[in-house]
Amino acid sequence: MRTAFLLLFNLACLRGAYSGGGRSRFTSIISFGDSYADTGNLVMWPEPFFPGPLPFENLPYGQTFFGHPTGRVTDGRLVLDFIAEALGLPFVPPYLAKGSNFSAGVNFAVAGAPALTLTYLQGQNLTVNPPINSSLHDQLEWFQKLKPSLCKGQGADCFGSSLFIMGEFGSNDYRNILMSNRTVEQALVYVPLIVDSISRGVERLIQQGAKYIVVADVFPTGCIPPILTMLASPNKVKYDRHGCLKSGNRLGRYQNSLLRQWIKLLRHEYPHTKIITAEYYRPVLAFLDMPGHFGLNSSTTLLACCGAGGPPYNYDFNAGCGLPSVKACADPSRALQWDGFHLTESAYRAVADGWLHGTYADPPIMHVARP
Ligand SMILES: *[C@@H]1O[C@H](CO)[C@@H](O)[C@H](O)[C@H]1NC(C)=O
Ligand SMILES: *[C@@H]1O[C@H](CO)[C@@H](O)[C@H](O)[C@H]1NC(C)=O
Ligand SMILES: *[C@@H]1O[C@H](CO)[C@@H](O)[C@H](O)[C@H]1NC(C)=O
Ligand SMILES: *[C@@H]1O[C@H](CO)[C@@H](O)[C@H](O)[C@H]1NC(C)=O
Ligand SMILES: *[C@@H]1O[C@H](CO)[C@@H](O)[C@H](O)[C@H]1NC(C)=O
Repeated sequence: MRTAFLLLFNLACLRGAYSGGGRSRFTSIISFGDSYADTGNLVMWPEPFFPGPLPFENLPYGQTFFGHPTGRVTDGRLVLDFIAEALGLPFVPPYLAKGSNFSAGVNFAVAGAPALTLTYLQGQNLTVNPPINSSLHDQLEWFQKLKPSLCKGQGADCFGSSLFIMGEFGSNDYRNILMSNRTVEQALVYVPLIVDSISRGVERLIQQGAKYIVVADVFPTGCIPPILTMLASPNKVKYDRHGCLKSGNRLGRYQNSLLRQWIKLLRHEYPHTKIITAEYYRPVLAFLDMPGHFGLNSSTTLLACCGAGGPPYNYDFNAGCGLPSVKACADPSRALQWDGFHLTESAYRAVADGWLHGTYADPPIMHVARP
C-alpha cells in the first residue's frame, strides 16, 4: 500500500505536478547552459575524452530524487527540472541522448561549459577542464543543426510556444581562469567578453524565432567552497558578512550588471520577444542570510555536503564527491552546497520557486506561462 502510494507519488512528480490552475502556453523547453542545467549531456560525451566514468556518474549523485546517478551534478533535481514540472512538461532530455523525443524540449547544456570557446580560452594559455567544444557557441551550433527536425511540420511560428532558457554561463570561465593561476583582477578583464557571448546568444535565438527567453545571471563565485578553499586568506577584511570572498563576488556582480544593461537594450530592440531575467546570485546570498527561512542548517551553509576535509568548507581538491571514500552529509535536504561547485536539490527547489512565482525572476515565469 505504502509502496503503491510512493510509486503513484513518484509518477505524479515525473509527469510534472502542474498546479498552475489552468493551461500553460508552453509546450516545450529549450535549454542552454552548464552543470547547473545539464541533465545528461556530459556523461554521454563521446570518447576518448572520458575513458572512465566521471565522478558524478556515481552515487551519492542522484540519491535524493532519482535514487541513482542521472548525469545531473547534484543529489536530485535541478532548477530546470522544477520548471519542467511546474509547466506540466517532461524532464528536458539531453541532446546527446540520440533517439529521444524532443517534441516537448531539448537540453543542450553541458557540465563544464564556458561562455567563451575552447579555442579562445586555450589561446589565452588557460587550462580548460574538460577540454571539449561544449561552449555556448557550440551549443547554439547544435541547436541550429537540430532546428529543421524540431520545426518539421510546424508553421512559421515554430518556437511560439517554446520556453528558451539561457544559462547560467560564466562560472566555468571564471573557474578555468582562476584555476590557471590568474588573479581575480586578471579574470575581470574577461567579463565583458563573457557577457557579449551571452547576449549575442540571446540575440541569435531571437533571430531564430524564440519568443520567450529566460536569461539567468551568474553565481556569487566568492561563496563556493573550492574558491573559498583555493583563495583562503587569514585577512578577515577579504570576507563579507556571509563569509564569502569579496573579490570573488566582484566577478559575479560585474557580469550581472553588464548583462542587465544588455538585456535592457535587447528588450528595447525586440519588443515582441519576452525576455525574463532570472537570478542565481541573490538567492544564494539570501540562503546564507536566512538559512532557517529556507529550511537549511545555518552551521553548514559554506560546507560541501558531499566532500572531505571538514570545516570550514569541507572541500578537498584530491577527494571530490563521487569517489568511494567521500560521503554525503546525513541530511542533504538541510544543506545548501552539494559537492563544492554545485547546490543541493533543496537549494535548487528554492531558486526555481523564485523563478516561477517570486522575486528571483522578472517577470516570474508562471505569469508569462498563462495563455
Ligand atoms: C513525441 O512526444 C509527443 C508528445 O510529447 C507525441 O505526441 C509524439 O507522438 C512523440 N513522437 C514520437 C515519434 O514518439
Ligand atoms: C601564451 O604562451 C605563449 C608561450 O609561452 C606566448 O608566446 C603567448 O604570448 C601567450 N599568449 C597569451 C595570450 O598570453
Ligand atoms: C574544437 O573546435 C575547433 C574549431 O572548430 C577545432 O579546431 C578543435 O579541434 C576542436 N577541439 C576539440 C577538442 O574537439
Ligand atoms: C602563479 O602566478 C604567480 C604570479 O603571477 C607566479 O609567480 C607563479 O610562479 C605562478 N605559479 C604557477 C604554478 O604557475
Ligand atoms: C546542523 O549541522 C551541525 C553540523 O553538522 C549539526 O551538529 C547540527 O545538529 C545540525 N542542526 C540541525 C538542526 O540539524
